[in-house]
Amino acid sequence: MSNKEKAKVVTTHVLHEMKLRNEKIAMLTAYDYSIAKILDKTGVDILLVGDSASNVMAGHTTTLPITLNEMIYHAKSVVRAAQRALVVVDLPFGSYQGNSLEALGSSIRIMKETGASAVKIEGGEEIIESIQRILSAGIPVMGHLGLTPQSIHKFGTYTVRAKDEDEANKLRKDAKLLEEAGCFGIVLEKVPAKLAKEVTESVKIPVIGIGAGNDVDGQVLVLYDMLGITQEFSPRFLRRYHNLYQEIYGAISNYVEDVKSRDFPNEREQY
Ligand code: KIV
Repeated sequence: MSNKEKAKVVTTHVLHEMKLRNEKIAMLTAYDYSIAKILDKTGVDILLVGDSASNVMAGHTTTLPITLNEMIYHAKSVVRAAQRALVVVDLPFGSYQGNSLEALGSSIRIMKETGASAVKIEGGEEIIESIQRILSAGIPVMGHLGLTPQSIHKFGTYTVRAKDEDEANKLRKDAKLLEEAGCFGIVLEKVPAKLAKEVTESVKIPVIGIGAGNDVDGQVLVLYDMLGITQEFSPRFLRRYHNLYQEIYGAISNYVEDVKSRDFPNEREQY
């Protein structure tokens, strides 16, 4: 990608054009200012302030415990860093399921308090009224179908979704509903690649996959997983681009050794 192309600020309109041009969209999660600043410079198109912060930032085993206030804290930091990428913020569990007014209120708080450009929400037909209400306030919405981690206690496992025909049909229907409602994109998580391709071709809005194969409009990964900071999570779809756990471990071990041996600080490192 040329520097000029990289410099163009990403809007939902730009993402739509990318789908029309068959240009892949790169999306990653971000939770803090310093890392988001690096990501933004690389040409990542979408920074997702994901509720996976509940796992990788806070150490919870699911995404359920993270609160709206905590998501807003992370999002504010990411927005301060993003000059080019579109910042999308997850509506956390418990901030929208009550009714469409609750969903709207939470989305307004995210937009007002963080300066982000859009919200993401898990679910299809069952939350369509909420999606319509958020959209009617002028807030761009990204859908999330397939494996929706906030429903883990209903699913019981994190395995591939929509393998049977009933669930695949619901997913096809939900994707169309989200498109018709006016969502600007959909995240499709952990579904068979063939189904993801079919859904991607059936809608005009970008479909971003995670564990959904290559025939979608873009890809998203959880940053801490793809950098190899987390070690315990190893699904088949995850490509690790680094073993940052090892790098950080090595650097910190050296620091501890230097402090204990009185090597740090030396004369040049003092006043
Ligand atoms: O919270 C998150 O990180 C996500 C991605 C897995 C898409 O929703």
